[in-house]
Amino acid sequence: MKNKIGIVSLVLWVLTVGLFAIFFVKGTTTVSSDQRRAIMLSPIEKDLVLGEMRTMLTAVNGVLGALSENDMKKAAIAASSAGMAMAVDTSPILMAKLPLDFKELGMGTHKAFDDIAVAIGKGATLPEILKSMHQITNRCVACHQVNRLASAELRFDKRQNQFAPNVGRNYGSSRLKVGSNKS
Ligand code: HEC
Repeated sequence: MKNKIGIVSLVLWVLTVGLFAIFFVKGTTTVSSDQRRAIMLSPIEKDLVLGEMRTMLTAVNGVLGALSENDMKKAAIAASSAGMAMAVDTSPILMAKLPLDFKELGMGTHKAFDDIAVAIGKGATLPEILKSMHQITNRCVACHQVNRLASAELRFDKRQNQFAPNVGRNYGSSRLKVGSNKS
């Protein structure tokens, strides 16, 4: 009897860990109206990720501005403002919702900002820094080309007389029928 309970709990454990692993790799996604991958987040999580994005744009702007003034110290400070330190306190739930390749690309970008700050400290030349900056903006472009963020905002569903997630209407290509008024 004891053995059976042991086996059952082991199976449950494996299933739970397995499911979490699948989630961790795949994240929660659907297809957006422009055919990019839409990552489904809560409105607050979406705001958090977009806030992080604006920090990165500000950092790019700061680095370029400082470089144009030949102020290397200022460029290093601007680069570190988008480094790994700003990404550490992301919640595990949000991390599970982001697909693995998104996490890798995102974290790699933060690390690249830190690397620039370190390189400047070691006396990197302007062309070297510009090359690294270009490699960073390549990452911005690559990720934006394939990803979008979607949030399951609530809307009032008259038929059901209650609030329901506003998911399938704008996102989720399966429900987006082009020319469906013919049927
Ligand atoms: C790992 C993926 C990824 C990387 C890397 C990335 N972004 Fe984004 N970014 C996104 C997604 C997804 C959105 C939301 C786009 C959408 O929903 O249309 C976004 C949105 C933005 C926005 C809009 C913010 C807002 O308030 O609406 C800005 C600005 C931005 N990114 C800047 C950058 C910059 C600059 C870089 C590079 C230094 C960068 N991003 C790198 C995924 C990424």
